[in-house]
Amino acid sequence: MWGVLVVNIILSIMGYSVILNIVPKFKDMFVKAHLSGVDLNKKNKPELPEATGVITSCIFLIVMFIFIPFPFSKHFFNKEWGFPHQEFVQFMAALLSICCMVLLGFADDVLNLKWRHKLLLPTVASLPLLMVYYTNFNSTTIIIPKPLRFLLGHDLDLSALYYVYMGMLAVFCTNAINIYAGVNGLEVGQSVVIAASLILFNVIELNGDCWTNHLFSLYFMIPFFFTSFALYHLNKYPARVFVGDTFCYFSGMTVAVVAILGHFSKTALLFFIPQIANFIFSLPQLFHILPCPRHRLPRLNQDTGCLDPSVFPFKEKSLNSLGRLVLKVYQMLGLIKVERTDKDKELSTGTNCTLINLALKVVGPTHEKNLAAYLLALQVVCSMLAFVIRYPLASLFYDC
Ligand code: UD1
Ligand code: MG
Repeated sequence: MWGVLVVNIILSIMGYSVILNIVPKFKDMFVKAHLSGVDLNKKNKPELPEATGVITSCIFLIVMFIFIPFPFSKHFFNKEWGFPHQEFVQFMAALLSICCMVLLGFADDVLNLKWRHKLLLPTVASLPLLMVYYTNFNSTTIIIPKPLRFLLGHDLDLSALYYVYMGMLAVFCTNAINIYAGVNGLEVGQSVVIAASLILFNVIELNGDCWTNHLFSLYFMIPFFFTSFALYHLNKYPARVFVGDTFCYFSGMTVAVVAILGHFSKTALLFFIPQIANFIFSLPQLFHILPCPRHRLPRLNQDTGCLDPSVFPFKEKSLNSLGRLVLKVYQMLGLIKVERTDKDKELSTGTNCTLINLALKVVGPTHEKNLAAYLLALQVVCSMLAFVIRYPLASLFYDC
C-alpha cells in the first residue's frame, strides 16, 4: 500500500511541476483562440486566458492514466489471487466521469452555456459512475441519526432516491464551487483546501474498517491536490490566468466521485460549509426571486483600490410578495444592504447575495488579495469545524 502511495505522490509532484511550466506557455494560444476574460477588479482591466483548468485537468488525467497499473500490479505477478475486476471497473468509471465532466466544462467555457444546461452537465457526467455503483454495490440503505430513530427506525432503504441524491451531489459540488467565485485565487484555493481536508480525513480513516475506500480516495485526491495547488500559484492575486468553469466542474466532480465510491458523501459535504452557506444565501437570486445580474463579484473602488460589495438594481413594486419578504428578512438579519438611488427615487439597490459580498459588508472595503486570504482562512476554519462535527460530535448522532 505505502509503495503505491509513494508512486502516486511522485507522479503528482511531477504533474505539479509540469503545470507550473506549461500553463504560462499556453497563455497566448488561449487568448488567440478567444478563450480569455477581463480581470474585472483591476484598474487596467487586463485580458487573461480563461479555462486554463482544462490543462490542469488533462495533466491530472495523464497522471491518473500512468498510475492505473500500480494499484493492480500485485495481481499481475500473483495470478492465484485473481484480478479484482470490480475494483478496476470502479477506477475506470471514476476516470470516465471526471473525463466527461472536463469535456462538458470546457464546452461551457467555449460556448457560454445557459444555467439550466450547467445543471444538466454534471448529472450526465455522473451517469457512468451511478451505473458502476448500481452493479458493484447497489447499497441504498442509510443509517438514521439517533434523534430521529424513534420516528424512522434504525435504517431506511432509499432505493431509487439514493441515486437521485448521488446525482444531485455531483450537481451541487460542481456548481457550488463555480458560484463561490470572482476573487483571484478563490475557485482553485477553495478546491485546494477541500482536497487537503479530504486527504487528512482519508489518512485518518486508513486505520478503520473501510480503509480500502479511503485508499481509493487518496489515489485521486493526492494528484488532485498537487495539480490544483500548481494552478493556484498562477491564479492567485494578481491572477496570471483564469481557471474557467472547466476547473470548477472538474474539481466538484472529482470530489463527488470519491465521495460516492468511497461511501463518505456526508463527510465530504461537511468540507463544503462555506459553499453550502453561499448556495443557500444565493437561492433567491438563482431562482430569480430577486434580480440576478450576470456577474455578482465585488466591484473595484477606483479611488481606494479596495473592493466593495456589488449591487443589483431593482424597483420595489416590480418585486413579487416573496421577493419583498426575502429582501426584508435578509435586511433584518444584516445579510444585505438596501439603499435608494439618488437619481431615480423608485430605484433601489441591494448588495448581491453572496458570501463574498457579505464578507465585505462585515469587514468593510478590502483589497482583493486580503479578501481572498480571509475567505480561504474561513474555508480552513470551516474544515476544522467539519472535523469536530465528524469525530467528537458524530457520536451524538450515530453509533461510532
Ligand atoms: C459565476 C457567478 C457570477 C460571478 C462569476 C465570477 C453566480 C450565479 N454566478 O458565474 O456571479 O461573477 O462566477 O467568476 O453566482 N472574473 C474576474 N476575477 C476573478 C474571477 C473571474 O474578474 O477572479 C471574471 C472574469 O471576467 C472572467 C469571468 O469572471 O472572465 C468568469 O466568469 P464565469 O466563470 O463565466 O461566470 P459564471 O461561472 O457563469
Ligand atoms: Mg465560473
